[in-house]
Amino acid sequence: MRVLQIDASAKRAHSSSKMLSAYFIARLRLGMPDLALDYIDTAADSPPPLSATFIEAIYTKAADRSPAMKQALSYSDNLCARALMADMLVCAMPMYNFCMPASFKALIDQLVRVNLTYTLHADGSTTGKLAQHKILFITTRGADLRPGSPWQKMDALRPALQAAFAFMGADDPVFVDVQPLETNDSVASTQLLAQARQTLDALARRWLADI
Ligand SMILES: Cc1cc2nc3c(=O)[nH]c(=O)nc-3n(C[C@H](O)[C@H](O)[C@H](O)COP(=O)(O)O)c2cc1C
Repeated sequence: MRVLQIDASAKRAHSSSKMLSAYFIARLRLGMPDLALDYIDTAADSPPPLSATFIEAIYTKAADRSPAMKQALSYSDNLCARALMADMLVCAMPMYNFCMPASFKALIDQLVRVNLTYTLHADGSTTGKLAQHKILFITTRGADLRPGSPWQKMDALRPALQAAFAFMGADDPVFVDVQPLETNDSVASTQLLAQARQTLDALARRWLADI
C-alpha cells in the first residue's frame, strides 16, 4: 500500500495540519507496517507556477514537444506519476484567506493533466483517473466556517478542493475540517485537535479494514 502525504502549511514547526497528517500516517502504519510513504511539503518545496511554455506544451502532442516544453512539464510528469502510483492521498493544509495555500493550488495546477490524471473523450466528456484512490483532506482554520456560522459562505477552500479532485475522478474525498482553532480559548482548541485525532483514528481503522 502506497501513501502520498502532502503538507502545505507554511509553518516549519507547530503546524496543526502537519501534526494531524503525521498522526494519521502513524495510525495507518500501526495496521500496515510495510506502508510505503511518499511525501511532499509544498511550502518548503513549492511546485512551479504554470508558465507559457507549460501551457504551450500541454497543447502539443507528446512526440512534437521541444526540449524546453519537456522540461516545463517535468515537475508535473513526476507529480502525476507519484499520485497515480499511490493508493491513498493524505493532504493537509491551513485555510489561508478563505482558500487553500497558494503552494497547494500550484500543486493542483501541476496535477490536473490530460492523458495523465484525466482522459478527454471525443464528445468533450472527461474521466478522472483518481477514482480508485482513497483521499483525505485535513484542513485547519482559525475561524469557524461550519454550517450555521456567519462565516459559512466564506469557505472557498472545501469547494475548490472538491471541484479539482472531482474532475480527476475523486467524487467523495474525506474532509476533516478543524475549526475554529484561533480563539482565546486554548482549552477549546486542544479539545478540537483531540476530536480531530479521534476522527482520524476511526478513519484509519476504516481504510485499513477496506484494504
Ligand atoms: C496568512 C494567513 C491567512 C489566514 N487566513 C485564514 C482564513 O481566511 N480563515 C481562517 O479561518 N483562518 C485563517 N488563518 C488561520 C489558519 O488557517 C489557522 O491558524 C490554521 O490552524 C493554521 O494551520 P497550521 O498550524 O497547520 O499552519 C490564516 C492564517 C494565516 C497565517
